[in-house]
Amino acid sequence: MGRHRAPGVAMSWTAIIMAAGQGSRMRSGLPKVAHPLCGRPIVRHVLEAARDAGVHDCVVVVGPQGEAVREAAGTGVRFATQPQPLGTADAVACAREALDADYVLILNGDVPLVLPETLRRLMSAIEGDTPLALLTALAPVESYGIVELVDGRALRIFETKESEGIDRSERRHINSGQYAARADWLFSRLDRITPAPSGERYLTALAEIAAGEGTPAVAVIASDADEVRGINDRAQLAEAESVMRQRINRSHMLAGVTIVDPHTTYIDAGVAIGIDTVIEPGTFLRGATSVGTGCVIGPASDVRDSTIGDRCEIRRTVVEESIIEDGVDAGPFSHVRPESYICSGVHLGNYAEVKGSRLGRGTKMGHFSYLGNADVGADVNIGAGAITANFDGVNKHRTVIGDGAFIGVDTMLVAPVTIGAGARTAAGSVVTRDVPAGALAVGAPARVRTSRSDERSDDES
Ligand code: UD1
Ligand code: CA
Repeated sequence: MGRHRAPGVAMSWTAIIMAAGQGSRMRSGLPKVAHPLCGRPIVRHVLEAARDAGVHDCVVVVGPQGEAVREAAGTGVRFATQPQPLGTADAVACAREALDADYVLILNGDVPLVLPETLRRLMSAIEGDTPLALLTALAPVESYGIVELVDGRALRIFETKESEGIDRSERRHINSGQYAARADWLFSRLDRITPAPSGERYLTALAEIAAGEGTPAVAVIASDADEVRGINDRAQLAEAESVMRQRINRSHMLAGVTIVDPHTTYIDAGVAIGIDTVIEPGTFLRGATSVGTGCVIGPASDVRDSTIGDRCEIRRTVVEESIIEDGVDAGPFSHVRPESYICSGVHLGNYAEVKGSRLGRGTKMGHFSYLGNADVGADVNIGAGAITANFDGVNKHRTVIGDGAFIGVDTMLVAPVTIGAGARTAAGSVVTRDVPAGALAVGAPARVRTSRSDERSDDES
């Protein structure tokens, strides 16, 4: 990746994201910054904030077993390895080789709620002879570092963990772990930082160094203390999730989506929703999901990695990795499983389960039934209790149902099998052989009658 140099701007910035710590307070097999927050790894949110602030060259510092963090960080970033977790100053030093920018934005990989405009404010605080700026906010001390502030300048940062007699519930200026610095100054000062009693070299020592040189760090104060929340354990993970969730919900509401109860609505970062859609309580919209305009989703629907068109009603229904066109009405209690394609005007009712199937326009599947690996045409009626027996214990086979076919109640379609357009199956039939267009299949195993005049079954569904 090339360095970021905005056209006409002489200053170049690189972001260093510190993500090599063990995250032991999470008590997890997964590295802390790889844990999902509103559907995205924590570190990905940090990277996104840097990019949205205009810094596109990002170096993520990872530990020697950093595979999961590398994966979590995704593409378009560079990595530096910190051989041992010897502290935040050491982490930044490990990125030195990878850098030739004039300015550095240093970000804690576990502080994902910071907003791009705040980072821009932090970056623009580096001017004149100021070599360092840091982001702080007034917040309960908890286990954060505390910034000693005089006239907007930070004279020192000290760690609560290593200080006696601090009231952790008191509100003070806490250190967010986000800094902006002049690169030449930064890298020539890092070596001076000696280990703290814990054995780690703390980046926070830079504040005292800058003050000692008569050019103290500028403290940029975040107006919203939520922005500086760090995630060290699972309780903080849940708190951060709640903040981010409300932010996401609010932005959808301001963009024209009705969210009946934002406190019980779970929408991942990056989900798109059209105007005049109503999201009812207890609904989850996850991953790469998009919902069109004028829909009702929920209550209690769970949609993952799926595309839903306009004017759909998806009530108490699970949709996974599928595409649903406009005007589809599903639920309550339908289940659209991966790789399904549901065309416009389809109706799925109670306990309708569809997997790896395509349902043509206007097809109705109103009551408990299962279609797996099926290509279903338009205006087909799937009767109550009808199923595809698509799995013979070894292989999956396809079922093809032509336009306008009528599948009677309790029909068993033993795949591979084809039901022709306009064909019918009688109640309780077990269809093991193809049924020609317009024919009727009756019995178990089903026999085919091709003359429509010799028998008409009642409409079973
Ligand atoms: C750090 C700050 C503290 C600040 C808080 C904000 C220091 C010494 N303390 O404390 O002042 O209030 O963040 O959230 O900087 N990391 C490495 N390599 C290491 C150690 C840490 O890459 O050797 C990474 C971690 O993965 C993490 C970040 O640096 O993403 C911060 O480390 P962490 O141990 O969480 O520091 P805190 O104790 O939270
Ligand atoms: Ca932390």
